[in-house]
Amino acid sequence: MIYFLSDQHGGESYGEIQKYLDTAGEDDLLIILGDLGLKFQDTEENRAFDEFILSAKKKIAFIDGNHENFDYIYSFPEEDFCGGRVHRLTENVVHLERGYIYEIEGKMFFSFGGCKSGAKWKPLGLWYPEEEPTEEELRRAYENLRAQGHRVDYILTHKYETGVGKTQTPALLELCSYINEHVDFSHWYAGHWHTDKPIDEKHTLVYEKLTPIK
Ligand SMILES: [Fe+2]
Repeated sequence: MIYFLSDQHGGESYGEIQKYLDTAGEDDLLIILGDLGLKFQDTEENRAFDEFILSAKKKIAFIDGNHENFDYIYSFPEEDFCGGRVHRLTENVVHLERGYIYEIEGKMFFSFGGCKSGAKWKPLGLWYPEEEPTEEELRRAYENLRAQGHRVDYILTHKYETGVGKTQTPALLELCSYINEHVDFSHWYAGHWHTDKPIDEKHTLVYEKLTPIK
């Protein structure tokens, strides 16, 4: 079984992750939809959370959000994983990179993390240029979707970008619109908004409620 959670921000919530760790079997996978926040803030809380995640004995994969320590994530070795590329943090924890399509439990998952943060984060030193997609990641995304015949089972993004508000990410908006128009998918899961609710029958926002895949 595959489950989703999102936006723990370096320790804001453990409960549902603990629930997963307590109940998951060997074949289960928890996918965190960004803003996991490993080594993001130099605080005791964040360090305890890092230890909690990195010592996980069950499988966890995460896409990146906008509040991540990208220097830290990118310091881990890359390897092939289910048809795409990941950074491997531990035996059980991997970072799903942008623009790849992973085949997990016979289903195809397109992954694209990141988005632009609000203006207040940069002066706090809690900001990385890598939060926004690069040309290479975007090219990879479109190429892989094309190579897959514009057909995947699931779309995973940190932000479901609809272009509303001050922090829109134009390249992500273009990609999200492209996927909605051209890609045949069964469901889209996104985080970022700190809410657990369906947007419509094909799009769901995930936050702190352990959400089994449909
Ligand atoms: Fe976010």
